[in-house]
Amino acid sequence: MLSPITLLTMLSLLPFAFSTQLEWKGIPSSKSSASSNTLTLNTALSTLPPNTSLLIPNQTFYLSGGVYASNLINATIILDGTLKFDDSGRKNWPTESCTKGTCVKKAILIEGARGLTLTSTNVNGGLVDGSGEKWWGYVEYLIYGEDRPKLITLYNVTDVLVEDWHFRQSAYHTFHADDIANLEIRRCTIDNRFNDKDSHGPLNLQALNTDGFDVSGKNIYIHDCKVWNQDDCFTIVPTTGDGINADCTENVLIENVEASGLGLTVGSIKPTTNHACIKNITFRNAYMHHTFKGIYIKSASNPDPTASAEITDILYENITMDQPEQVPIWIGPAQEGDSENACSLAWPYVDRAECPAPNDTMKWTNVVLRNVMIKGAKVSPGIIFGNEDNPMEGVVFDGVVFDNFEDLEEAKPWGEDFYYCKGVQGVAMGGTTPVPPCFKKE
Ligand SMILES: *[C@@H]1O[C@H](CO)[C@@H](O)[C@H](O)[C@H]1NC(C)=O
Ligand SMILES: *[C@@H]1O[C@H](CO)[C@@H](O)[C@H](O)[C@H]1NC(C)=O
Ligand SMILES: *[C@@H]1O[C@H](CO)[C@@H](O)[C@H](O)[C@H]1NC(C)=O
Ligand SMILES: *[C@@H]1O[C@H](CO)[C@@H](O)[C@H](O)[C@H]1NC(C)=O
Ligand SMILES: *[C@@H]1O[C@H](CO)[C@@H](O)[C@H](O)[C@H]1NC(C)=O
Ligand SMILES: *[C@@H]1O[C@H](CO)[C@@H](O)[C@H](O)[C@H]1NC(C)=O
Ligand SMILES: *[C@@H]1O[C@H](CO)[C@@H](O)[C@H](O)[C@H]1NC(C)=O
Repeated sequence: MLSPITLLTMLSLLPFAFSTQLEWKGIPSSKSSASSNTLTLNTALSTLPPNTSLLIPNQTFYLSGGVYASNLINATIILDGTLKFDDSGRKNWPTESCTKGTCVKKAILIEGARGLTLTSTNVNGGLVDGSGEKWWGYVEYLIYGEDRPKLITLYNVTDVLVEDWHFRQSAYHTFHADDIANLEIRRCTIDNRFNDKDSHGPLNLQALNTDGFDVSGKNIYIHDCKVWNQDDCFTIVPTTGDGINADCTENVLIENVEASGLGLTVGSIKPTTNHACIKNITFRNAYMHHTFKGIYIKSASNPDPTASAEITDILYENITMDQPEQVPIWIGPAQEGDSENACSLAWPYVDRAECPAPNDTMKWTNVVLRNVMIKGAKVSPGIIFGNEDNPMEGVVFDGVVFDNFEDLEEAKPWGEDFYYCKGVQGVAMGGTTPVPPCFKKE
């Protein structure tokens, strides 16, 4: 006869011996169930056996923030419905202690997973709604600053597929893959907007820091995705020698995407004592409708002379910008309001506004823009701004064309120079028009 313990063990094996799919039984359409839903979802995630799927059915479930899973193994989360985060803002949001004292918890944090698939069997995909409206606005920024919940974070995770998940109204950064190896993201969208305007005017830009896909690590492939937001759209975040799964953010391909916001971004990258690194990054086949910035490669500064960083082998190919609203091409120091020694948001319009060059402890090598078409730009083409003591090397503009370059002779802020161009060894070819004034023409 079987002992009760053996029987229990066998029974507990049954679900994944015969069926590898479990269903989470949340309470649908009930705002007041947000915290109990979060608890039961966390329990379902923490007890999910290896090689098992967890189904979130085709209904709307309120959650309170602090969804958490660690060390999942070959787990699949099938989101057929909507996860909607508490829409009362900071009031009910769970917090945790942090270096600053108390910080909000992330909406969703998955860490230490080995083998993870986020997918959907719904033809429309699954939806994650951050209810960010309550957190956005210039006044709210003064209150919360950047202590706002990131919508979904994958940290120290390997072998990941994310498909058919849609994210909207994130209170802060939307999607983070931090220190990850082997990630594919496809058919996903991000939409963070204050109103329905087809532009990034002052009202929409109030959804500050609503970054799209921020990724660091190695072997990352993002394709057939769309982002409309009010900060960086697709962002390559550096990794340092302290990384777990990579010591440099490298081998990243982002293709067949639409992006409108602060652009296709590399950085910002700041010299660190354990060497910050971004290498072998390609963006191609991107369409950028009414984007704010377009191509944006940015550094941050560090006074420590022993710190170092590199940006190496970056290619932007077949990129179309349709009526970009601010600077289309920005390669140089990050332009921000909130970091020390950053390039001022008022630069170069306001006399005393400063824009210091990138540090000479930061090496820029091989940045290529090929077949980049910019239609109807409203301000001067851009900046390519390195440190004159350690200039950017191998910067090539091959077929970088502004269709309205004649009008741009009168555009602000650089008029007939078109570009602010300094500290760079650059080459223009392939009909690049206009040619940056400090580039060699081939
Ligand atoms: C999970 O599935 C893989 C095959 O896909 C198998 O090799 C592995 O042993 C399974 N792991 C467990 C814990 O069942
Ligand atoms: C996870 O899945 C992969 C691929 O099917 C398999 O090789 C591996 O053994 C699985 N890992 C575990 C711990 O089951
Ligand atoms: C990263 O994840 C692995 C696998 O779950 C774990 O063993 C390791 O401790 C994690 N490392 C850190 C620094 O969190
Ligand atoms: C999920 O529900 C929506 C409406 O709520 C419906 O349009 C859709 O077909 C459903 N999908 C599935 C896979 O049942
Ligand atoms: C650069 O990254 C791509 C993936 O985007 C990869 O196929 C290629 O092998 C990498 N090149 C080098 C030199 O590592
Ligand atoms: C260039 O990118 C566009 C998307 O903006 C795409 O439709 C087109 O097929 C791409 N061209 C090539 C040659 O890949
Ligand atoms: C980096 O740049 C900032 C801004 O110009 C400057 O204050 C700092 O001293 C620089 N650091 C080094 C190591 O040169």
